[in-house]
Order: sequence, then C-alpha cells, then structure tokens
Amino acid sequence: MPALTSSLPVSSTTASAPPAAPAAPRPATPAVLASQDRTAELEQAIARDPGSFRVLTGDRPTGAIHLGHYFGSQCNRVRLQNAGVELLVLIADYQAITDRTAAADLPDIVIGLVADYLALGIDPDRATIFAHSQVEPLNQLLLPFLSLVSVAEISRNPTVKDEIAAAGSPTVSGLMFSYPVHQAADILSCRANLVPVGQDQLPHIELTRTIARRFNERYCPDAPYFPEPDGLLSSAPLLLGTDGTKMGKSRHNSIPLRATADETARLVSRAKTDSQRHISYEPHRRPEVANLVLLTALCRNTTPEAVAAQIGDGGAAALKAAAIEAINERFAGLRARRAALAADPGYLRTVLAEGNQRACEIAAGTLAAVREAMHQRY
Ligand code: TRP
Repeated sequence: MPALTSSLPVSSTTASAPPAAPAAPRPATPAVLASQDRTAELEQAIARDPGSFRVLTGDRPTGAIHLGHYFGSQCNRVRLQNAGVELLVLIADYQAITDRTAAADLPDIVIGLVADYLALGIDPDRATIFAHSQVEPLNQLLLPFLSLVSVAEISRNPTVKDEIAAAGSPTVSGLMFSYPVHQAADILSCRANLVPVGQDQLPHIELTRTIARRFNERYCPDAPYFPEPDGLLSSAPLLLGTDGTKMGKSRHNSIPLRATADETARLVSRAKTDSQRHISYEPHRRPEVANLVLLTALCRNTTPEAVAAQIGDGGAAALKAAAIEAINERFAGLRARRAALAADPGYLRTVLAEGNQRACEIAAGTLAAVREAMHQRY
C-alpha cells in the first residue's frame, strides 16, 4: 500500500527522466513550465521510492489505441509499472459519452482496449484495469465533489471549452460540462497521488487538487484525507495524424497499434507530405515530413536527425517506405501478442471483471471515509 502523500522531497539535480524524445513545438505557459519542473522532481522521487506512488491513468473508449497514443502515454505507463509504481488504468466509458451517444460497439471497444493494454505490457497481476461505469462508489463521489466547485470555475476550464468547441454542437450536456469533476472522482476514489498527463489535462489535475483541498478543509481539517495528486507530464512528442493534424482515436487519421502490416502500408502511403526531395527534420517548417521522420525514429529508437540524414535526397517515397518498415518491425511482436489475446475474449473479460472488483473495493473504502467525514453515517 503506498504512503498516500504528495509532499515529496525537492532536489535540484537532473532527473532520471525517461529517454527524452525531441519535443514537438508547443507553447509553454507558466503552468506548463511549473509542471515540467515538478515532473523532474517527481521522476527523481519515483526512482528513489516507487512504492510511495499510486498512479491512475485512463483513456476514453472512443476507438483503437494508435501510435500517437502509444509513444505519448502508453509507454510511460508501462515504464512506471515496471519501475515498481502501483498502476491503475481506467477505461472512461462515461467520459466517452460527453459528446456522443454510447454505441452498440462499446463492449468491443472496451474489450479491445484491454487487449491493447495487455499486449503492450500492462501486467494484470500487478496493475488494475477497470471501467469507471462499473465502480459504483466512485460515481457516488461525484455528488459531494460537485458541491465543492462553482459553475464559474468549471466554465473557465480551457480544455472543456476546447472540447465543446470541437464537438461543434449547439448544446452542451451536463456531463460534458462537469466531466472534470467526475475525473476528480476517478482520481480521488483510489486516492492516487500521481496522474501521467499531456498538457491538455493539466486543468483537470488542478481542479482535482482544488477539490481534494476543499474537502479536507471543510470536512477533516485536522486529519486531511485526500492527497493532492500531481500531474506527471509526458516528455514524449505529439505525433500528427496522416492528415497533418493531431492524431486522434476518432479523427480517422490515426495508425492503430493493431493495424496489420498491409493496413499500415496503406495508411502511411496516403499520409500528407510535401514536394521537396531532400528530407529534413524541421517540425515548424515541414510538420508533415517531420512527423514521419519522428515516427520512424521513435520506432527505431534513434533520433529524427539520424533518420533524415539517412534518407537524404530519397524524397517522400523513401521516407514512407522507411516509416512503414520501421512501424511494422517495431510492432510485429506486439501485434502477434494482441491477436492471440483477442482470440480469447473470455480471458479479457475476466481481467476487466477482476480489475473492476478491485477498484470497487478501493473506492468503497474511500466512500466510507467520505461519509464519515461528512457526518452521513446514520
Ligand atoms: N480525460 C482523459 C482523456 O480525455 C481520460 C480520463 C478520464 C482520465 N479519467 C481520468 C485520465 C483519470 C487520467 C485520470 O483522455
């Protein structure tokens, strides 16, 4: 059982962070810079004492895990698990309906995600994989947590604003509006103290910290119950989709992890490039070409500069051929493992049922303590 605290010793030496891949261009706001510094401290603390961390991380089941996802967050989860941190992986099936109706293929997507997780190295004997709709005490935390935030605070959340804009719908559902509070329930139900995130999720972590702090101040000032979790920023670059925009599960521009070698070839061949023959790595000036160079480099565990130099004047055709080969080589083993797992859906359902059960036990303990603190035990 990890010591549930977020107060960590601070040190100023260089962090033993994961191998840093070259960062894609992103604006660094003060909040992001602060979080980068904090991430460096946290990486040191993880290296020193992994057992003191409980990590919660999750995905919306809106489609198959793709390569952007793999290099951006899934690798980091496996790294943390293998470093000895306790890992919980959540399938956010309620969050998936913030901007869409649950579709009949949801069970296939959810079980497919479990197959992806196991194939890429999440170990069900050490980690807990669960779907938040199945964890009743977790969902019950939403009500007290909603009482701790104002409508104005939620309205200011920049990620919610972006998602509302991206959904392009004239109406905003109550769930879309309040999902960051539900996310706080995800995180605090298991009293996770570390949440690996991309920059877009930082406002949600901030809100979770606010809810934890307010709950402690209001209901248990003498013995604060909830830790204020930290976000752990991924050092991985943002991969673009085959159309040159951000790679997304539901954007029809991604290369799924589970794609066959032929599908990969088809998807990469239609990727956008430019007409310049010489291949270089210039993310600002040539984002689409740089993206294929970066993807190839990530698959080969080398630098994008080395890939660009090797292709030289080969042009887009040589670059695409190199990318296809690198992806197919890198993921052949994972894809074979995944195919074997997918052939046994009964096993995948058992893994999920056991994870749900464990998440329920943890969340029930949290809900009992919350009721006690809130004077709701009669
Ligand atoms: N909001 C996350 C996303 O859009 C998914 C998510 C839901 C999550 N609950 C979480 C992530 C809790 C981390 C912790 O991808």
